[in-house]
Amino acid sequence: MGKKTFYITTPIYYPSDKLHIGHSYTTVAADALARFKRLTGYDVFFLTGTDEHGQKIQRKAEEHGKTPKEYVDEIVAWIKQLWKTLDVSYDKFIRTTDDYHVKAVQNIFQKLYDQGDIYKGTYEGWYCTPCETFFTEHQLVAGKCPDCGRPVELIKEEAYFFRLSKYQNKMIEYIESHPDFIQPPSRRNEMINNFLKPGLEDLCVSRTSFDWGIPVPFDEKHVVYVWIDALSNYITALGYSLENDELYKRYWPADVHLVGKEIVRFHTIIWPIMLMALGLPLPKKVFGHGWLILEGGKMSKSKGNVVDPRALVDLYGVDAVRYFLLREIPFGADGVFSNKALVDRINFDLANDLGNLLSRTVTMIEKYSDGKIPDPGIDDAIDNELKAMAEALPAKVEKLMDGLEFSGALQEIWKFIGCANKYIDKTMPWVLARDASKKERLSTVLYNLSEALRIISVHISPFMPNTPAKIREQLGIADENLVTWESVKTWGILPAGLPVSRKEIIFPRIESSEPVESESADGKTKTDAGSCKSIGETGKSAVEALAKADKETGKAEQEDGANLISIDEFAKVQLRVAEVLEAEKVPNTDKLLKLRIRIGEEIRQIVAGIAKHYAPEQMVGKKIVVVANLKPAKLRGIESQGMLLAASNEEKLTLLTVDKDIESGARIK
Ligand code: ME8
Ligand code: MG
Repeated sequence: MGKKTFYITTPIYYPSDKLHIGHSYTTVAADALARFKRLTGYDVFFLTGTDEHGQKIQRKAEEHGKTPKEYVDEIVAWIKQLWKTLDVSYDKFIRTTDDYHVKAVQNIFQKLYDQGDIYKGTYEGWYCTPCETFFTEHQLVAGKCPDCGRPVELIKEEAYFFRLSKYQNKMIEYIESHPDFIQPPSRRNEMINNFLKPGLEDLCVSRTSFDWGIPVPFDEKHVVYVWIDALSNYITALGYSLENDELYKRYWPADVHLVGKEIVRFHTIIWPIMLMALGLPLPKKVFGHGWLILEGGKMSKSKGNVVDPRALVDLYGVDAVRYFLLREIPFGADGVFSNKALVDRINFDLANDLGNLLSRTVTMIEKYSDGKIPDPGIDDAIDNELKAMAEALPAKVEKLMDGLEFSGALQEIWKFIGCANKYIDKTMPWVLARDASKKERLSTVLYNLSEALRIISVHISPFMPNTPAKIREQLGIADENLVTWESVKTWGILPAGLPVSRKEIIFPRIESSEPVESESADGKTKTDAGSCKSIGETGKSAVEALAKADKETGKAEQEDGANLISIDEFAKVQLRVAEVLEAEKVPNTDKLLKLRIRIGEEIRQIVAGIAKHYAPEQMVGKKIVVVANLKPAKLRGIESQGMLLAASNEEKLTLLTVDKDIESGARIK
């Protein structure tokens, strides 16, 4: 018999703007689940993509003087790069402009028309273009879009309609008899009470006032409503209604559609009714997750409070960002995204708990066991808690993952990590090492710690795709059979004798969280001091900076003079000319350079986020401007004793230097 299949989808994103950390949240969650299912033996199909039609995109492209296709092509390339950066392991990326999708949507529309579920009428009503949603008069709130609060447009045109009303009762029945269909349960009640029970009106499913869409096959001046087009992606991606529908046969119905809470309605009313009308099975589950919120409300490009996921990954690394997203907020709920919370998670959970467990274990094996994992010898009752917890862990995590409780699953794994750290404190290997008669007991303790780390490395792999290899490298684990899901269900299969080796610290502590760099809504870099600033010198926070920049814009308008500083305040900042003596890239970052500089007689080291703009060899010999009296900060574990100045916008960065030659150390005032 073949493996059980598992089909998981994210929403397909509008490529109207670059994506932010909120979109990354949905996709990273889907990726963790896809990886978990692969790990536990499923034949997984993980779909993501882009929703490229509609008036919103057409207008946006016009604003940029591009055709819609030119405009979306660029953003789609950017999005694919983002998923690469975040290690998203999708099996297919669908674009609604792909030929096969266009064809399949036309097939679907035609079939629904032929059987009388789509009919021609006149549409008169309100349309919110940013949300690509129609509203009836009574759905508006104070005359505005009930979802986003923006103005709506009155539209009157000939249009095709889909008979949603005909399926209303069937839909209510279905939801009530399938309690798992809409998750979490609060969203189910909302759908039934707020949308289904008050009565469904037939849905307008074509437009004639613009043409960036899929033509209605039998009436080409109409284009298909973008939500009909978009929702269909979940089956067109599998080849539904096309010549080769092997994937459709293998994977449909979907096991889970992951969606944000504001689009649950489309996925639990319009989509299942489309499927019912087509005579197809419904997805097993639609899970509506909450929003990541910044102080000031939901992240959105138009509000200007977006957080660029790439900046976070540059700063903290992909595994740390993924861990934070999945650990911090229970999946169904809204959660505030704060830089402090992120830095705390890195320092406490990753650096302290996991990082220290690994480095303590490897260090002790090097010291007390010739660098080889010892043979276990003498058991003790103290070991039982650790073993019992290890053996119970896979089933617990599996159950939580099946309920999409990512945070709960990580909590269980971290309880085990905590237990292993406590085990070190209780057994005190350094005391055992002083007594030759305790040699075998010491071996057992060190063995158990290594075994715990093997088991941990497997459990964290869906969440943090890069860390397991680092753990295994230090423990000398190369055999794939030691890291399967089956293998972690049994305690004690790690062979003795593997050579351990201490390597770099897997999660360096973030020492400082001073915000330095931010990006405003218009994509320009914001600073407090005009356009001249430095970047990357501290463990800064893109997030706090964004929130701060937002607040400050408001503040500056209100209390104009409050941002002025006196000459004495300025004089506190010591700016000096420095000469760059040496420069090298900081390993495992693509942004940081480590520089040795001379300020007068003094030699210092600074770390600067300029590697994307300057090669190390270009830096040597340059006279630059540095803040010489800045408190030292650590970046990726490397001390930076000062910071250099540079001017930057979204694409460019250029160093501040002196106009005529002057000796290093000269003061700038
Ligand atoms: O809605 N926190 O696309 P989209 C959490 N094309 N999730 C967020 C978020 C935040 N701050 N901001 C956005 C669409 N999202 C349609 C989908 S599916 C057939 C068509 C999530 O680009 C949001 O909740 O506006 C949604 O699930 C997803 O990003 C896509 O948003
Ligand atoms: Mg949206």
